[in-house]
Amino acid sequence: MKVNLSDTRKIIQQYRNKKGTLIPLLQEIQAIYGYVPKESIELISKELLIYPVKIYGILTFYTQFYLTPRGKHTIIVCQGTACHVMGGKDILDYLSNKLGISEGETTKEGMFSLERAACLGCCGMAPVVVIDNNFYGMCDIQKVDALVKEYRSKEANR
Ligand code: FES
Repeated sequence: MKVNLSDTRKIIQQYRNKKGTLIPLLQEIQAIYGYVPKESIELISKELLIYPVKIYGILTFYTQFYLTPRGKHTIIVCQGTACHVMGGKDILDYLSNKLGISEGETTKEGMFSLERAACLGCCGMAPVVVIDNNFYGMCDIQKVDALVKEYRSKEANR
């Protein structure tokens, strides 16, 4: 899909001649596109005279940045110790199989991205799954199966 670069151009203009602002610039790009497109990286490099390797260095160092399009919904499966012991690994494997993607990937139709996290700070609810900003505790295969169905049917009814 072709990326419309007009927003990238506007953001570059805001940051032109400002030193040390590459991270906020990239955050703004990601807020617009949902990830940082390679076409935007090329334009930033050309316009602000920054080597692409420096931009990619930042994008790959900070886990907040994505280099590929994200799904409409991000499913995070906690893999901290408590969740792992309570079946978090089985849930992650199940979702990976069900959705046909590995961690860090997005389904072909763009519906779901799958991620793992270290402890999410609510171990008493282990195993924990987060979809977008919604926490689901005491998860098992049946529960995550129902959640995937629920999110799919919400999208189908929009
Ligand atoms: S280990 Fe999953 S919330 Fe703490």
